[in-house]
Amino acid sequence: MTDVIDKSGEALAGANRIYIFDTTLRDGEQSPGASMTLEEKLEVAELLDAMGVDIIEAGFPIASEGDFEAVTEVARRVKRATVAGLARSSPKDIDRAGEALRHAARARIHTFISTSPLHMKFKLNKEPGEVLEMIAASVTRARNYVADVEWSAEDGTRSDIDFLCRCVELAIKAGATTINIPDTVGYTVPEDYRALFETVRARVPNSDKAIFSVHCHDDLGLAVANSLAGIKGGARQVECTINGIGERAGNAALEEVVMALKVRHDRLPFHTGVDATMLTRASKLVSAVSSFPVQYNKAIVGRNAFAHESGIHQDGMLKHAGTYEIMTPESVGVTKTSLVMGKHSGRHAFREKLKELGYELGENAFEDAFVRFKDLADRKKIIYDEDLIALVDDEIVHAHERIKLVGLSVIAGTGGPQSAALTIDVDGVSKTHQAAGNGPIDAIFNAIQALVPNEAVLELFQVHAVTQGTDAQAEVSVRLAEDGKMVTAHGADPDTLVAAARAYIAALNKLMVKRGRHRPEETLAG
Ligand code: KIV
Ligand code: ZN
Repeated sequence: MTDVIDKSGEALAGANRIYIFDTTLRDGEQSPGASMTLEEKLEVAELLDAMGVDIIEAGFPIASEGDFEAVTEVARRVKRATVAGLARSSPKDIDRAGEALRHAARARIHTFISTSPLHMKFKLNKEPGEVLEMIAASVTRARNYVADVEWSAEDGTRSDIDFLCRCVELAIKAGATTINIPDTVGYTVPEDYRALFETVRARVPNSDKAIFSVHCHDDLGLAVANSLAGIKGGARQVECTINGIGERAGNAALEEVVMALKVRHDRLPFHTGVDATMLTRASKLVSAVSSFPVQYNKAIVGRNAFAHESGIHQDGMLKHAGTYEIMTPESVGVTKTSLVMGKHSGRHAFREKLKELGYELGENAFEDAFVRFKDLADRKKIIYDEDLIALVDDEIVHAHERIKLVGLSVIAGTGGPQSAALTIDVDGVSKTHQAAGNGPIDAIFNAIQALVPNEAVLELFQVHAVTQGTDAQAEVSVRLAEDGKMVTAHGADPDTLVAAARAYIAALNKLMVKRGRHRPEETLAG
């Protein structure tokens, strides 16, 4: 059995204990447009660790220098959870993962290969016999680096059951301690997925030597239901992501799995080590750093998840909250805030307010956020919690960027031509440019383009107000695509034009990370 420990620090292996394997930083980050910087990944990893996640999959070390660095740093920082690195079956992948994990207090190599006829023939161009050899060789090689090895049968749910059983038996024999059977394309249904685990566990003679794991994609909206069915079939590890981000329609959402097990303990008598009161905070952080908005009606963490609009529902709620709520907002970390913030609020109140909202910033980040809060309070009569959340998320996202907005002035209006004078800081060097454009946004983006030449195509430009009122902060989202790579980023400010500049610059910063080169001009020139 794998050496997985609980939040309390105790090794736990009870039959009803479900291990939570979070892959937000690997499968989640693979979603088109969802890239995170190293600092953002570290922040997410630290939160996942504090929250009680058992295993954090930090990346795919062979995929890029950035992924390698992220796995190395997460492995260095995380002290409680096991840190996993993904590897295909090739020796190079496994060596790279082993190297990235060398400083981890608890390390896992997660190696995978496709086992379905379709994938073996068209993706791998390999015969089943060759795949079997690769499984034995890859798991054996991974065991030379770590004692904790997970083996995954990619496209497991569309694999031939006899062949799948042979693969699993071989992987365990070679030393795999966790066996993951992913529903890679989100195709299975709960009854079938449960039966798959029951069959494999019953037929594979050494199945008791490993923990079985579910990994479900949400192409048919069944990822969480399938994961729960897999648990009923004997799986004891769930692979999932915060907010369900991931390839295509995403992965099973961690917060939904954790709360389903908690709220329906009567039907699903299992428990995890996750502190559910941290779910809302984790959702907000991942949404901010991945630039993926959380849909309003998303289960558990959507902004409407605990909102009651209709008169009948409100009346019921006033009489007894249980009438329309199956869990309390507090149980998932939604707090009723008490402090009202305004321009007279000082550092102490600001820090307390941030705590209420679930933020604990380091000293520098706190000071920067406080300066921005004071500036906002001078310009805006009512400061809502949403304003502070937008401000702090913006601060977290932009704190470590190499290109920073320093100043912007814009000439706009009916007369034209509109123009923008922009100053940015690139790796500590200040640069200014004035550009004209077909409207103020065009002028700003032209100025950015002149200072940081790039071939990125603007695919999305969206503005929304964070709160109500004409003095509301604007949150601008920008999506850029270059060379098949796509990034999305946000910028927030009471001035829509400043928010647009921040968002565009944030997207360029993310593009640089995705391309993994060094000088901004070189990185962005294509
Ligand atoms: O969906 C999948 O099959 C995967 C594997 C790499 C585990 O993400
Ligand atoms: Zn996946």
